[in-house]
Amino acid sequence: MKNTVLTFKEAKQKGEKLTMLTAYDYSTAKLVDEAGVNSILVGDSLGMVMLGYEDTLSVTMEDMIHHTAAVARGTKNALVVGDMPFLSYNTGIRDAVINAGRLMSEGRANCVKLEGGKEVCDVIRAITDAKIPVCAHIGLTPQAVNALGGFKVQGKSLESAKALIEDALAVQEAGAFAVVLECVPAALAEKISSMLDIPTIGIGAGPGCDGQVLVYQDMLGVYKDFTPKFVRKFANVGEVMTQGIKAYIDAVADGSFPEEKHCFKISEDIIDKLY
Ligand code: KIV
Repeated sequence: MKNTVLTFKEAKQKGEKLTMLTAYDYSTAKLVDEAGVNSILVGDSLGMVMLGYEDTLSVTMEDMIHHTAAVARGTKNALVVGDMPFLSYNTGIRDAVINAGRLMSEGRANCVKLEGGKEVCDVIRAITDAKIPVCAHIGLTPQAVNALGGFKVQGKSLESAKALIEDALAVQEAGAFAVVLECVPAALAEKISSMLDIPTIGIGAGPGCDGQVLVYQDMLGVYKDFTPKFVRKFANVGEVMTQGIKAYIDAVADGSFPEEKHCFKISEDIIDKLY
């Protein structure tokens, strides 16, 4: 059954945990979708794990549309969330609605995600007024890495914890159907989750959230540049890939690949008549 924003609402009401994972291409989206997650996030983290940038700031609307459309083609049941990249929603409400609309109409996302609290509430309101569901994202907001002074846990002091609660309530009030809490102390994330009617989706925010999200390259051991503290490696796919690639190199080198069953046939008569 197709997951929708109503699935998220019902899960919160029933106390059922939600699952979200990233994907950035057709084949991976198919695997993730068939495994049964509620939601696939086409995150701007693709800048790092797919494109090799050091942060998400260079990711463009064209990148996001390209990858979101590929994921949407591979997804049947999961809710596809298209991430709004850096400065695609901060240069005015009109720009924000147009860019959110492009992720829906060209990327075929089912909703969009954007980073920020109180300061983006007018944008969330305008996009939801355009009938585009919005997932908010507060706490560590990677597009603000330079303003935050690095990829750091947020909400540790009394003042910043209060500000985070106010942000969570504000994005809910503005119409967000869910909110990602990234790198927030577990007890604070639990408190925020208990205060909201919309589900919280945690990443580095502990088990008290209403759902969890991870970058699939992290949890499957494919991205090796850096593994955040909050990641559990559920499989070592990177190692399996390396073994497979080495076996291919060896088989080509020793002539054991390709075999007869991998070859296309032609009549010997034709071969004999050549030159
Ligand atoms: O871009 C992304 O993958 C994200 C997750 C880390 C929540 O925003």
